[in-house]
Amino acid sequence: MIKIAPSILSADFTKLGDEIKSIDSADYLHFDVMDGLFVPNISIGLPVLESLRAITDMVIDVHLMIESPSRFVERFAQSGADIVVFHVEAEAPENILPAINSVRKLGKRAGLSIKPDTPAEAVLPYISALDIALIMTVEPGFGGQRFIQTTLPKITLLRNAIERLELDCELEVDGGINLETAKQCVEAGANVIVAGSEIFKVPDRAARITALRACSA
Ligand code: DX5
Ligand code: ZN
Repeated sequence: MIKIAPSILSADFTKLGDEIKSIDSADYLHFDVMDGLFVPNISIGLPVLESLRAITDMVIDVHLMIESPSRFVERFAQSGADIVVFHVEAEAPENILPAINSVRKLGKRAGLSIKPDTPAEAVLPYISALDIALIMTVEPGFGGQRFIQTTLPKITLLRNAIERLELDCELEVDGGINLETAKQCVEAGANVIVAGSEIFKVPDRAARITALRACSA
């Protein structure tokens, strides 16, 4: 089953509650956190997560684009995240497994993400400990960018590893997703599709979520 995760980075922040209602037929609510260091942009953080947790039952998928994320993974897990994903490039190798385990000890799902230029192999040492692996299909930092085609083989490489090892690990893609690139990602092996501008730019978000699911069927 293909899951759709609208990224609220593309939502109208002056009416975030209504924006979230407009996408509640989706599977996950994708919540992008940026620190201005790991990526050249700053977005939203813990207070906004806590506010949204109070108004929605959706599964909240937190994507941490911050340096040294092990400092913060527990705080996000305790502040309403259902899934906490951080970047392998942003953390010292010896801290990665402990950070994953600390999220899971709190009863939440944990994931690792890679940027477009990071090889898929960077995730492999941790894959059996993951609930989700996130392959960035644009450089992280901004919505509305163009999909990077060279990321597609990495999706297939990780899908093959997940199947070979018979793991219960989801495979998520994020960045530049539209009806056409969603289909390419699903064909390559992804099962969770993040989409920001593709969903929030249209008035009928529910229809676009349905279309994204259908184009990927
Ligand atoms: C980018 C974020 C994405 C972003 C996707 O760094 O991680 O989640 O919101 O936006 P679109 O779908 O517009 O590329
Ligand atoms: Zn994201």
